[in-house]
Amino acid sequence: MPRRVVRFLRRGQLAERGGFAPTETLLDHLRLHERALGTKEGCAEGDCGACTVAIGRLRGGRLVYEPVNACIHLLGAVDGTEVVTVEDLAEPGAEPGAGPGPGLEGEPGGGRLHPVQQALVDAHASQCGFCTPGFVMSLFTLYHAGVRADRAAVNDWLAGNLCRCTGYRPIADAALACCTGKADDAHARRAAETARRLAALADEEDDLFVGDEEAFFAAPATEDGLAALAARFPDAAIVAGATDVGLRITKELHELPRILHTGRVASLHEVREEEDRVVIGAAATYAEAEPALRALDPDVGEMLRRLGSKQVRAVGTVGGNVANGSPIGDSPPVLIALGATVELRLRDAVRTLPLEDFFLGYGRQDRAPGEILTRIVAPRLGPAEHFRCYKVSKRHDQDISALLGAFRLRVEGGRVAEARIAYGGMAATPKRARNAERAAAGLRLDEPAAWTAAADALADDFSPIDDHRASAAYRMRVARSLLSKALAEIAGRPSRETRVAGVRTPLGEHRR
Ligand code: FES
Ligand code: FES
Repeated sequence: MPRRVVRFLRRGQLAERGGFAPTETLLDHLRLHERALGTKEGCAEGDCGACTVAIGRLRGGRLVYEPVNACIHLLGAVDGTEVVTVEDLAEPGAEPGAGPGPGLEGEPGGGRLHPVQQALVDAHASQCGFCTPGFVMSLFTLYHAGVRADRAAVNDWLAGNLCRCTGYRPIADAALACCTGKADDAHARRAAETARRLAALADEEDDLFVGDEEAFFAAPATEDGLAALAARFPDAAIVAGATDVGLRITKELHELPRILHTGRVASLHEVREEEDRVVIGAAATYAEAEPALRALDPDVGEMLRRLGSKQVRAVGTVGGNVANGSPIGDSPPVLIALGATVELRLRDAVRTLPLEDFFLGYGRQDRAPGEILTRIVAPRLGPAEHFRCYKVSKRHDQDISALLGAFRLRVEGGRVAEARIAYGGMAATPKRARNAERAAAGLRLDEPAAWTAAADALADDFSPIDDHRASAAYRMRVARSLLSKALAEIAGRPSRETRVAGVRTPLGEHRR
């Protein structure tokens, strides 16, 4: 019999909830059910960070706290985790009369402020009650990350928290003052006990099924169980981190009566770094997959750093980005240029196909009813191969791309021997530029005047989309520029600096 309630740790206790609507969000649970009102709703679409909470989970046997946007995080997805909200940070024993600290609304803290809260007070970094709880919780997770934060880390960590009155400098100063790499708070002191209790929850490999056949939140524990349920309920929404589906719930008010959550299948979280390829389970989050993907090429890492925010990358998955088939998803064009394949499963039948063949048209993928995406396989670069990818968006951080270009070139004897080129945002699907690939093959890297042939061929590949993010003419012009930029960088002869922000490799080098 499957389990009928979600179970998670809350304020040191085991919390259980059953009988909830499949689409109930964690934020609604906190505010409407628990009446834990410190966590705020701002945008309700995963952009502003006002609703940030910390989710504690075991990664490699170690307790880690990750920031999550509660507004688009489904309640069922917190099964087996610890949920920490802004009320849980201050410790009892404050000076008498001390008011609630930043992000607090009395219950049940209100005592000695957490070091993060105290740092915000000291830096005069709190101006309003809307954004501050989210900033506190994002910084709480940075405080527990075990790194001495520098300004780049703080900027990355806070990219998903918006302050409408631009008070970032004192917030960043507070972060630098308190996030020193050594956590000394109540959560750190009971980390071993929390880890033990989370491990005990994870050990129970039972399926979770809340609801009935008409409306349910189901989270099988195994790949077999997931495949069987997907085949039985082919109309169910298959949900991983809900960073996309969550908006269909909160913004488009879709009903989505049947939800099939992939997050409890351990084998689908696996990321395997093999000699010649990387295998990414469909439920692996960006955070889980990032080290392996970054190792393919520093540009892949930079793309991931600018994809969403810490909150989005903590729960969003590469598999979800592929499966939802968005024309402007950031990872599909990168994976297509790399030469990735996808593995799909319908009941017990498994098949693989090149990723570019998975996308059939706008909103249509080569996926049969009841079939699930199980893995993505990305080959490593060969010795003579070069890779570049560039994300172009209005904001540098946490923005949807206008377009993204990705280029894998094999160079032999100073010539392009083979090219794989893919773009997102140029067509109804992420798509290879096969005409440009053919035109690029044979180009000499020391003859830049000839490169325009490849750029010209893009006009045969794409009739770009025209929307509020970018005009068709802009997209084509930028697509041409990105191809020229990739060739110039790979040739090692850019006429001027090509990177505004630069790509930091793990060694701290900059790619120009
Ligand atoms: Fe804005 Fe959740 S309310 S990210
Ligand atoms: Fe809250 Fe700026 S201090 S929006």
